[in-house]
Amino acid sequence: MTDLTAFAHGLPKAELHLHLEGTLEPELKFALAARNGIPLTEKTVDEVKATYDFTDLTSFLAVYYPAMQVLQTADDFFDLAWAYLQRAHAQGVVHAEMFFDPQAHTSRGVPFADVVTGYRRAAVRAQDELGISAELILCFLRDFSAEYAMATLMEALAYKSWIVGVGLDSDERGNPPEKFAAVFARAKAEGFFLTMHCDIDQVGSIDNIRTVLTGIEVDRIDHGTNIVEDPALVALAIEKGIGFTTCPVSNSFVTEQMKSDEIVALLRQGARVMVNSDDPAYFGAYIGDNYVAFAEKAELSATDLVQLAINSFEASWLTAGRRAAYIARVEDFATAAGVPLPARA
Ligand code: ADE
Ligand code: ZN
Repeated sequence: MTDLTAFAHGLPKAELHLHLEGTLEPELKFALAARNGIPLTEKTVDEVKATYDFTDLTSFLAVYYPAMQVLQTADDFFDLAWAYLQRAHAQGVVHAEMFFDPQAHTSRGVPFADVVTGYRRAAVRAQDELGISAELILCFLRDFSAEYAMATLMEALAYKSWIVGVGLDSDERGNPPEKFAAVFARAKAEGFFLTMHCDIDQVGSIDNIRTVLTGIEVDRIDHGTNIVEDPALVALAIEKGIGFTTCPVSNSFVTEQMKSDEIVALLRQGARVMVNSDDPAYFGAYIGDNYVAFAEKAELSATDLVQLAINSFEASWLTAGRRAAYIARVEDFATAAGVPLPARA
């Protein structure tokens, strides 16, 4: 482990773009399949990994959704999230706001209650045993209807205190943000924070980013780095303090590059960008690995990594007091390692 690797992994950080269903490692997939009596086509870990041949978002999603059939009971959802939280802890995560896709399960007959209670149990255990504050973000699948999203939101209201915000994911093509304007307006009225995926290099990326910023008025944008194409929009995002939850290793799977130039451009302009892992079981990189891969590609300094970690808390949905306490931990960690703090800190 080089010094930068050790520093990147140890740095206290928040994970803000992580799909719990995207943490299903092949070994756990086999264990859950055996427990639930589900036959799988692939028989070995290598055979499963051989199917991870993604060229874009659509080809990734075509592998991602069928794998979820092994998730059946509340215990399965618990095991998935608990395995993730232990890995995240080992890579310096002290706060996690984690996406889950209830419709990927309710659409195949799994009760919403089983999904959310399993995940919640893992979040509570993470606080008790690992000292990680873990929250859930309910994502609507944008390739389903707005009516189904609204019904899911209504079902979620019974679990409001367990869910910090709502998001929008899945296939952006043909499913622009305005399709869900009423659902997000209702979610906001119910007190949820809002975020939406604006995936990389989509048809209409910049229009969708404009809609989420100025029409839906989200609190954060997931990915969203195509915004660099429109300097006026970047200025607006900076003025509003919008967080951009970038995922460099994921980018290199669903596009041709990490998009490191775009992420660095946003970082240097003072936008609230940070680095996350997206679907780490599929892209082979948890959050610390993402920090290292991005730092190597973009030749970042340790001080840049400190700025990314600070941004992760500034863009989080913690209270101001808890954000400040976590940022003080980041600064103490950097100072103890002899790393200069960023000018903006
Ligand atoms: N679901 C899981 N990962 C996703 C991503 N990166 N974009 C859209 N939907 C997703
Ligand atoms: Zn994502």
